[in-house]
Amino acid sequence: MTTLSYLNGKFLPLAEAAVSPMDRGFLFGDGVYEVVPVYSRRAFRLDEHLGRLQRSLDAIRLANPLPLDEWRALVGRLVTAAEWDDQSVYLQVTRGPMEVRNHAFPATVTPTVFGLVEALHTPPQSQVEQGVAAVSAADFRWLRCNVKATSLLANCLLRQMAFDAGCAETLMFRDGILSEGAASNIFVIKDATLLAPQKNHLMLTGITYDVVLELAAQHGLPTEVRDITDAEVRAADELWLTSSTKEVLPIVRLDDRQIGTGQPGPVFSKMYGWYQDFKNTVMRG
Ligand code: PDD
Repeated sequence: MTTLSYLNGKFLPLAEAAVSPMDRGFLFGDGVYEVVPVYSRRAFRLDEHLGRLQRSLDAIRLANPLPLDEWRALVGRLVTAAEWDDQSVYLQVTRGPMEVRNHAFPATVTPTVFGLVEALHTPPQSQVEQGVAAVSAADFRWLRCNVKATSLLANCLLRQMAFDAGCAETLMFRDGILSEGAASNIFVIKDATLLAPQKNHLMLTGITYDVVLELAAQHGLPTEVRDITDAEVRAADELWLTSSTKEVLPIVRLDDRQIGTGQPGPVFSKMYGWYQDFKNTVMRG
């Protein structure tokens, strides 16, 4: 079956979608993106994802090429056409092509808008039950990590460190403070309290991060949103990663040392249940 994609106003098979090599997204990584999970053909928190896309566009000084209802319609059409019920929608806007390679913005910008749907691969049950291992690294990214930019070279290099070590994620620290994972947010459980890094320019505020904090508040799980030190992460009772595609996943080893008991903890089990219930009632209900 051919995969339908969207490119600059047209729906077309992915194999036929092509952009100019002079596109600033290709040459400079000058663009922003979103990844939206879809359950039972319903996009999860679509308006929050589109809101973050708007903030990313504002941050890179690129006008939003589509009104909100057109974004919604675009996503709806891709979701309907896809062969899977659970999907991952990818949306990207770049500053478009330029005639001559020049870092400064072109006088007239024609943004490139791209949309694609893939099957949603949430973590296998074995990872949920046994947890995953992670490595740590210095966060050597730029200082505007709250922008969901397509220029992900640093994140790719950091994520590859984990894969090279047979691990699932790289936890990043800046000046001894936890920022996030290479493609996820990180939470700590200590003494039955949920610790979450505070939202700032050093991390991307995940849509899943917000859902986890909402669920914690609803279910009365004590929460502290604040700076978390390297030492606190290593001494955690539990460590979790969250993202749109991984949902909530326990980390049980960090740099070859076990976290807590080395097994997914009791607070994780609760949060995982709340998350699945929420997802199933809100999305599939
Ligand atoms: N990335 N931090 C980073 C650096 C990320 O790349 C992601 C997700 C998150 C979690 O955000 P959310 O909960 O909104 O998915 C945090 C996506 C999934 C990606 O790049 O594929």
